[in-house]
Amino acid sequence: TTEGDELALVPTPSVPRRTSKLGIVGAGAVGSTMAYASLMRGAARTVALLDVNKAKVDAEVLDLAHGIQFMSMAEVVGSDDVAVMADCDVVMFTAGAKQRPGQSRLDLAEATISLVRKVLPGLVEVAPNAVYVMVTNPVDVVTYAALKISGLPPSQLFGSGTVLDSSRLRYLIAQHTGVAVQNVHAYVAGEHGDTGLPLWSSASIGSVPILDWQGTGGTGALTREVRDAIAREVVESAYRIIEGKGATNYAIALAGSRIIEAVLKDERRVLPVSSLLDDYLGMSDVCLSVPSIVGSQGVLERLEIPMSSDEVLGMRRSAEAVRSVARRFGF
Ligand code: 2OP
Repeated sequence: TTEGDELALVPTPSVPRRTSKLGIVGAGAVGSTMAYASLMRGAARTVALLDVNKAKVDAEVLDLAHGIQFMSMAEVVGSDDVAVMADCDVVMFTAGAKQRPGQSRLDLAEATISLVRKVLPGLVEVAPNAVYVMVTNPVDVVTYAALKISGLPPSQLFGSGTVLDSSRLRYLIAQHTGVAVQNVHAYVAGEHGDTGLPLWSSASIGSVPILDWQGTGGTGALTREVRDAIAREVVESAYRIIEGKGATNYAIALAGSRIIEAVLKDERRVLPVSSLLDDYLGMSDVCLSVPSIVGSQGVLERLEIPMSSDEVLGMRRSAEAVRSVARRFGF
């Protein structure tokens, strides 16, 4: 016999190989769109959805599963029982109170924190090694509370933070300058919310510092006025979307998928996620976003971004806003 024949006789192993498992808590607009985006991107082999509403989660699972033929191979499961999340590699926490028009993210703290208290300990029991990413608002306060509630190390649990705000910022800069959004490098740091701030002094297009950008193809420089208008628009656009359609889901779902892939593929991407600061610009014991390296162990490192004195002040203001809400809930 030839070697090839012998190889063909090797029996199929009965123990399946370990594959990546993504868990999503909450099958609402954000959670189910994040499942969809992750399936489309082939981010994980198994996607598990958990929601208290059994009919809703079953329906989302079926609808997602019916599309697998058109995507990379995956399996979708779901339940109202936390056991479905067993052995997840990464868990995205999207469940929580819905932000109504006129409410700020910080107004949702009480409802979300009590949900985290109820759900997170059980999750950590069935998926002790997962990297946990809090998405529910107010995400910085929720991340801080979740760290205290779970006792997980700060590298293993963090928040989606300003990954979304930064993509809004980059989009607006791209619109203004007529350059592809992929070539705009700029971060929003601080709170995911009203006090988040663009880090203009380290932003660039190609490798041209944004503050030196003179415009191209009929567009102008990014003057102080333009930058302020863009910064306002970054903060206000979420409110406008909520006004118009009741929730934001597509962009946060893609931002979440980016984080998921950084973790599952150990990419060590630089992402502005919200994590527990420890003497960052002298700030400690608060969760805020700064560009950080994200891989399979979670948040590995926070980058020391050069900041102007205004930007440092802005970070401190953000820290105060987040701390004062956390304090109100005994954290
Ligand atoms: C967003 O920024 C509402 O936090 C949500 O889209």
